[in-house]
Amino acid sequence: MRVIIFVSLFVLMIIGGMGVYSARRTGLNQGFRPTQPIAFSHKEHAGINKMECLYCHFAAEQGRHAGIPPVGVCMNCHKFVKKNDSKEIAKVEQAYNNKKPIEWTKVHYLPDFAYFNHSQHVVVGKIACQTCHGPAETMEVMEQYSELSMGWCIDCHREKGIAPPQDHKAATGGDCSKCHY
Ligand code: HEC
Ligand code: HEC
Ligand code: HEC
Ligand code: HEC
Ligand code: HEC
Repeated sequence: MRVIIFVSLFVLMIIGGMGVYSARRTGLNQGFRPTQPIAFSHKEHAGINKMECLYCHFAAEQGRHAGIPPVGVCMNCHKFVKKNDSKEIAKVEQAYNNKKPIEWTKVHYLPDFAYFNHSQHVVVGKIACQTCHGPAETMEVMEQYSELSMGWCIDCHREKGIAPPQDHKAATGGDCSKCHY
């Protein structure tokens, strides 16, 4: 009898543990791949047509956010490209004419208490977009490639010789407040 209770408790603990684990995974959203209001393909633009990431995400060099390009950027080409034979381009044109931004569904987000700055990583750190976002130029539908957990940030910082957060007073910037405020 006692053995059965022990075994059941053990099994329950494992199931409980898995529950907590999967709840955390869900919270972190790795692999999140929402359907967008317009079937925009990174594979088509950044892959087949070899457009630079920064042509559209120019803000990544300037500050915190990489930003989503305004519809005017799309119209630089789509005034001419597939203008009359595509339902999807018709939606782009309509947004442009009505001066209504396209309501893209956000794929990545950190909780409010964590701070991440693109230009610090892209310009100063010289890290390729793909290191964090994966092979975006092959994606028909954009997805969250990395975990975006605190451990993920710290692992790379450690690898690059940026002080880990337990070295609070290190001048090299391992301070919690660099990422939290
Ligand atoms: C022609 C313009 C264009 C180019 C070029 C482009 N993107 Fe995008 N990107 C977009 C648009 C529009 C969205 C929003 C729709 C979507 O998520 O697919 C987006 C979304 C994203 C997102 C997700 C944003 C979020 O909501 O979290 C990432 C990451 C991203 N792009 C990275 C890249 C990378 C890396 C490259 C280069 C390999 C690149 N993009 C090239 C237009 C572009
Ligand atoms: C530098 C030029 C360029 C820019 C800027 C650009 N596109 Fe494109 N886009 C293309 C080309 C080229 C194709 C492929 C056309 C083809 O298949 O013949 C394409 C295809 C598409 C398609 C598929 C159309 C279909 O029916 O097959 C969509 C949707 C699209 N683009 C949306 C966008 C959006 C939204 C933006 C702005 C975020 C954008 N494009 C910016 C050049 C561009
Ligand atoms: C060191 C990792 C890292 C690199 C390098 C990086 N990103 Fe990001 N990116 C992130 C993180 C983390 C987020 C979520 C940020 C947030 O929610 O505040 C993000 C969010 C985004 C977003 C959506 C939200 C926003 O900030 O506007 C886009 C678009 C994007 N990245 C594009 C790019 C492009 C394009 C490049 C290369 C020029 C790039 N990223 C380089 C980590 C990275
Ligand atoms: C792929 C590697 C990589 C990843 C992943 C990464 N970083 Fe960084 N980070 C760097 C590098 C390299 C630098 C140093 C840039 C420089 O020289 O200032 C840096 C610098 C920083 C700084 C400035 C530190 C200081 O001492 O001033 C902050 C803050 C920061 N990162 C936050 C984050 C956050 C938050 C995440 C996760 C969401 C993250 N980083 C993920 C490589 C990375
Ligand atoms: C390099 C950036 C970075 C540094 C340095 C950092 N954090 Fe974080 N931290 C993050 C990010 C990003 C998240 C959000 C991850 C998520 O969604 O779970 C986070 C999440 C957290 C959480 C929420 C619970 C969790 O584990 O997800 C706590 C608590 C926390 N950090 C405490 C700290 C403390 C204390 C320090 C200093 C000893 C510190 N952090 C240093 C980036 C950092």
